[in-house]
Order: sequence, then structure tokens, then C-alpha cells
Amino acid sequence: MDCNFNDRVAVVTGAGNGLGRRYALELAKRGAKVVVNDYGVSPGGTGYTDEYALKVVDEIRSAGGQAVVDCHSVSEESSAQAIIQTALDRFGRIDILINNAGFLRDKSLLKMTVDDFDAILKVHLYGPFFLARAAIPSMRQNAYGRIVMVTSTSGLYGNFGQANYDAAKLGVIGLMHAAKEEGKKYNILVNAVAPVAGSRLGAGLFPQEVMDMLKPEYVAPAVVYLCSDKCNCSGHIITAGGGYFSRDWIAEGEGYYFESKEISDDAFAEKWESITDMTRAHHYDNMMEVGMAWLAKTTAPGKKTV
Ligand SMILES: NC(=O)c1ccc[n+]([C@@H]2O[C@H](COP(=O)([O-])OP(=O)(O)OC[C@H]3O[C@@H](n4cnc5c(N)ncnc54)[C@H](O)[C@@H]3O)[C@@H](O)[C@H]2O)c1
Repeated sequence: MDCNFNDRVAVVTGAGNGLGRRYALELAKRGAKVVVNDYGVSPGGTGYTDEYALKVVDEIRSAGGQAVVDCHSVSEESSAQAIIQTALDRFGRIDILINNAGFLRDKSLLKMTVDDFDAILKVHLYGPFFLARAAIPSMRQNAYGRIVMVTSTSGLYGNFGQANYDAAKLGVIGLMHAAKEEGKKYNILVNAVAPVAGSRLGAGLFPQEVMDMLKPEYVAPAVVYLCSDKCNCSGHIITAGGGYFSRDWIAEGEGYYFESKEISDDAFAEKWESITDMTRAHHYDNMMEVGMAWLAKTTAPGKKTV
């Protein structure tokens, strides 16, 4: 059975185009009341128009769904708070937040200006922080919340010319981790999606036939699931594109423990293979688990396994 979002209120940022538009349409189709936020900028982050958001709201309403328009920018604290206020004023609560808004300012590291770096951190990292902070009090009150951060394989693994974007997109993973820990006892689940889609930001990167294989529709099932009652995980990173879905995670290898603390340069180099071996890599749910595992590895007999 399809996920049911009746009585749920969702804020989708950057919902006037591409992936955000698709998430908003899918949630509305399943009964959610949706705040369609979009500041209406170019793929490089310039300009302003309310047309994108208005058009998506029209689409939702024409299909019988409920939606309101919001054209604030996510990049500044007060305007980001105003987006959440729109949800509270118009629908009385917020259950779902999809931190999707963004644009690109690609340049190699040496050519990147502080403004380029700043603008990308503002929209992709500060925005999600401002919005999560504004939304969580209402979610806590209702003991229910689903937050989806939008990351990127560029941030997870690195891409030429995207120092600003990579830093921001890995930054939201840190934000996800902390929000997940703090949201636990209030039933606020925080996950991330790393999409691949032939939308405006992907235009020019792929030939048309590949773009056609990468419709935003093919990413949406992951986001719908992460926003739903069916989902009970938190802290997951899901890669999604062209109908392919997988989980990414940060993992620690088994490592090597030196009994003697007098470690010579040669002794360290000699154990490099063991130190960096990932065949028995382990993922931790939080920092406490890392600490406990370290204690076990350095004090327990055997000292090697987690
Ligand atoms: N398309 C991909 O392959 C891909 C890959 C990895 C990550 N992503 C991420 O997915 C998200 C959506 O990307 P898309 O490809 O659909 O892009 P898109 O350009 O089609 O849509 C992004 C929307 O965000 C809006 N926006 C930009 N700055 C804003 C701001 N300050 N406040 C509110 N709205 C703002 C834009 O006006 C635009 O309508 C982005 O966070 C992007 O980094 C996309």
C-alpha cells in the first residue's frame, strides 16, 4: 500500500524545480499538506522569481492536493525561520522537512572566491541548520518528525571543482548525525539522500539519453519512504538515481593496536597495510559506540575486534 501522509504537514525547500518539485508532488498526492518553498534562482544562485513555486502549487491544487507557496530563501536565518512559520501559520504543525534547496558555484579550489564558498555553504549547510532548528520544536511537541537532508556523492566521495559544494554536502551529514541523536527520544528521524537526476543542476553533465534515464521520479521513492511512517531508521544515507538505490556509510577498519607505545617510524610503516585494511570495516551508530569499541580494542584480550 502507498504511504499515507493524511494530516501530515511537509516543508520541501527548493520545490519549484527538479527533485524538490517531484518530492512535493509525491507527498501531496499521498495526502500531505505541503509548503512549496522556492526562492526562484538560476542554477548559479542568482535572481529571484516566485513563478517556480507558484507553478508547483498550482499543479498540486489542480490534482486535488493541498499546498501553499513560500518564496523565502533558506540561506538566511530569519527567512529560513519564516518558511517554517508558513507551515505553522497555514497548517498548524510541521511533520516533515526536506532540505533540498540549492545551487552550484563550481570552480577549482585556487579560483574559488570566499563569496563562492560562502554562498554554497549558506544554501546547502546553514539553510538545513536554520530550518531544522526552527522545525524541531513543533516536531518535539507532536513527538513526530521526519527530516531528510540532501547530500551528494560529490560531498561523500569528492569532485573536481566543487570544494564549496563538497564541504557543504558532507557538512549536512554531520548535521544529520547530531540531529539524529538529539531527535531519538522525540521520534524525530533524520536521514539523508544522495540523488542523481537529470534536472537543472545535472544539465550539461550528461547526454540527453542519460538524462532521460535519470528522472527525478526515479529518486522520489527513497525520499517518500524516508518521510513516511514505514521508515524507522535514522542516520541512513541513501544513494538514489535511475531506479538504483543503495546505502552509504562511514566505516572504520579493524585497525592495528601497538602494544608498545614506543612506535618507531619503521614499525608504523610496516603496519600500514593492517592499519588501512577495510576488509572487516565496521559502522558505528554514534560517537559513544566508537568510544566503547576503542576501549575494547585497547584493553580487552585480543585487542583487535570491535
Ligand atoms: N540533480 C542531481 O543530480 C543532484 C545530485 C546530487 C545532489 N543534488 C541536490 O539535490 C537538490 C536539488 O537539486 P536539483 O537538481 O533538483 O536542482 P534544481 O536547480 O532543479 O532545483 C533547485 C531549486 O532550489 C531553489 N533554490 C536555490 N536556492 C534557494 C534558496 N536559497 N532558498 C530556496 N530555494 C532555493 C532553486 O530556485 C531551484 O528551484 C540540491 O540540493 C542538489 O545539490 C542534486
